[in-house]
Amino acid sequence: MIHLYWKNATSQVVGDEHGITPAELANTERSINAAHAAVMDQVRAGRLGYAALPTHMEYRRQVHELAGRYRDNTTDVMVLGIGGSALGNIAVQAALNPTTYNLLSDKQRGGPRLFVLDNVDPALINDTFKLLGRRWKTTLVNVISKSGETAETASQFMVVRELLRKRLGDGFAERIVATTDARKGTLHDIAVQDGYAMLPVPDDVGGRFSVLSPVGLLSAALCGIDIDAMLAGAASMKNRVENPSMRENPASLLAAIQYLAFAAKSKPVHVMMPYSNRLYGLADWYRQLWAESLGKKVDRDGTEVFTGPTPVKALGTTDQHSQVQLYREGPNDKLVVFLTVEKHPAEVRVPDVFADVPGLAYLRKARLGALLNAEKLATEYALAVSQRPSVTIRFDQITPISVGEFFYLYEFTTSLMGELLNINAYDQPAVELGKRATFALMGREGSGELAQEIKPFTRPDRRYLA
Ligand code: PA5
Repeated sequence: MIHLYWKNATSQVVGDEHGITPAELANTERSINAAHAAVMDQVRAGRLGYAALPTHMEYRRQVHELAGRYRDNTTDVMVLGIGGSALGNIAVQAALNPTTYNLLSDKQRGGPRLFVLDNVDPALINDTFKLLGRRWKTTLVNVISKSGETAETASQFMVVRELLRKRLGDGFAERIVATTDARKGTLHDIAVQDGYAMLPVPDDVGGRFSVLSPVGLLSAALCGIDIDAMLAGAASMKNRVENPSMRENPASLLAAIQYLAFAAKSKPVHVMMPYSNRLYGLADWYRQLWAESLGKKVDRDGTEVFTGPTPVKALGTTDQHSQVQLYREGPNDKLVVFLTVEKHPAEVRVPDVFADVPGLAYLRKARLGALLNAEKLATEYALAVSQRPSVTIRFDQITPISVGEFFYLYEFTTSLMGELLNINAYDQPAVELGKRATFALMGREGSGELAQEIKPFTRPDRRYLA
């Protein structure tokens, strides 16, 4: 199970100016209850697509069926996707398989290696292709794109499809699974024409909310992750966050704290800092969820608000030696969300050596997990002393269940934040211009006018070149 601990965000610990006072929390309770009721109305009306995913039996069946078909004849899985079509896959894999998973032998792993190509950096693509070497015949390519036309995914797909076609001949289509719109779109049409196996991206689920759909489930299932347990974890968190009582509901409390920190306590920066390398991918996933959902120019009444907390990721303890100086002595504009693990997936004990070296003796026989957790407490304390608020999401263990719980907790919290900020948390209009500008720069038909507009940016003004 995961739990939220929020005392260190209160005025009792960090003072009235930076911490949430009992009166502020009580005053916000009415807004939280209204936000919760509004989100629950959408859930009950079936308008919040992601809420149906934890118990969606048909998606689960389709994923199991495909994973079963490919598991024994696949040595490598290559996911082509970006943003919401990649970050969940990376986060799940990083959390639930060994950190060195891809470096293990085929026998040690017992499942395929996983490569998620979420960029068009030619070096990344080329390096990955080189690594695959002769294993193309047993590589399964999962191309994931809801729109079916995202330039990064489309270009990767064109490269990989051609490569497979040349190497495998007519059988190439057998090695591609397309996860895309079930009825329409460019990728959908190509998949039908070429004859790929297909999985649906639900119509009413945006990319960043899609990790518990076939988007995030296939690569996980292929790599041996218990997706049923992950969905069960999400379903159990769904029950917890549907509780209308703010004080018993981790999503409502989290939303109240993150909202008050942002709107009442001048804390526009929300740092997620896992004390676990395995959970670092979750911070990356959260960064997109928070940024694209909550960073909005206009509210739902059309008023310009330019709102949204800035999500930042940091890693404990690594970033204690990089960021904490700023977090403690720089502007007091941050709320830190720690992720901690009670029982780590593995343990290492420091040997009983250097008993006579005063600076090291205290570390003898220590468990590294205990050291990691002590460092988290030390940072939490050090922040509190400097009146810097924090909350902790505690994982008893890192399991498919707790990871599923985390995803649903943050998705629901994001919906509540959308209500509190009175913005549409499910669109991303500002991302579109960059996508269209890329089309124009790369000469896509119908982009002529935009291409003209961009021209000044394509020719550097030498007067400003130093
Ligand atoms: O969350 C989102 O909506 C985005 O990050 C998309 O997932 C991303 O832009 C990729 O889009 P698509 O799946 O249509 O290729």
